[in-house]
Amino acid sequence: MQAIPFASVEVGSEEERLVLELLRSKQLTQGPMVSRLEEAFASVAGTRHAVAVTSGTTALVAALTAIGVGPGDTVITSPLTFGATLNAILETGATARFVDIGDDFTLDPDAVAAAIDDSTKVLLPVHLYGLPADMTRLGRLAADRGLTIVEDAAQAVGAAIGDRPVGSFGLGCFSLYATKNVMSGEGGMITLNDDALASRLRILRNQGMVARYDYMMRGHNWRMTGSQAAVGVAQTSRLSTITAARRANAAELRERLTGLEGLVLPDDVGDRHHVYHQFTVQVTEAAPMTRDALAKGLAAAGIGCAVIDPRLVFDYPCFRNDPRVLVGDLPAATRLVTQVLSLPAHPGLEESDLDRIASTVRSLWEVHSR
Ligand SMILES: Cc1ncc(COP(=O)(O)O)c(C=O)c1O
Repeated sequence: MQAIPFASVEVGSEEERLVLELLRSKQLTQGPMVSRLEEAFASVAGTRHAVAVTSGTTALVAALTAIGVGPGDTVITSPLTFGATLNAILETGATARFVDIGDDFTLDPDAVAAAIDDSTKVLLPVHLYGLPADMTRLGRLAADRGLTIVEDAAQAVGAAIGDRPVGSFGLGCFSLYATKNVMSGEGGMITLNDDALASRLRILRNQGMVARYDYMMRGHNWRMTGSQAAVGVAQTSRLSTITAARRANAAELRERLTGLEGLVLPDDVGDRHHVYHQFTVQVTEAAPMTRDALAKGLAAAGIGCAVIDPRLVFDYPCFRNDPRVLVGDLPAATRLVTQVLSLPAHPGLEESDLDRIASTVRSLWEVHSR
């Protein structure tokens, strides 16, 4: 039987057409195609500005740098995330403070409120797996305490809280890495409404120059290429179709997998709309099998699955004893990181794939219940 891939990279004729147009224009470096992608992203995030950069990681570094985060400042963030979130904070010289998450895998606003002190400058929620963090409460907290919000929206392009898209609550940082819901191979984007910060970001990404050889600040080369942008423009034009397909696959999987003891399925949380970059289930203590046994069983049946972020992000020797890595009490994150497993939900799945994924999980549950 053919394997069901965990992720699939969909590249269509529009990508080919735009890359060819780009090549023929000979504008291989940052040019009009990058501006087109920025306009498309600003429209997705509902912001006045979008600034393209080389990756989701550099988007985070650029956003933190633009608002002046540095040594002595603390950034509050989630421990269940990819290394980029932490690397970006440390790169600025700031301190990362990890607080606990809720059962939805995103920052717990009560834990955040308790952790804020005089050194706190930024709240950096991660919209993990494509589910927005509780931005209504986090936004209010930031406003009350005079903090800036930097959203790690790397996994959540197109997600929203009610009618308000992620990336519009402060500085939104997106990744366009190859397996993201929309991609450009590698790439990143910062979305924001603040005019002054947007122009600062444009200067920062271009060696700190306001005009050629007119250096205004220390900067970097974070410029996206035209061919990356061409792929991104084609992809972004299909975002609503891609999101609808992922949400439909998630709904089908939920329907087929409901009722299994100890298996928690992902869903929208109130008005927080999930875009299912990952369809991540939780295998609790009440389940007849462990998360690792489920992963093994699925792999043996040729079904791609993955433990995304298998350890809390600071839980590695290179970070553990860093004085700029502050770890609070994390009971929920410590439990959840051992229980999560992501199943395929990408738009490349057929109805028969969804049937096979669900029937394999169901039969594994049955076998282990005996
Ligand atoms: C939560 C999170 N933040 C940041 C990033 C970094 O994005 P990039 O790989 O484009 O640098 C990723 C990428 O996977 C991510 O998942």
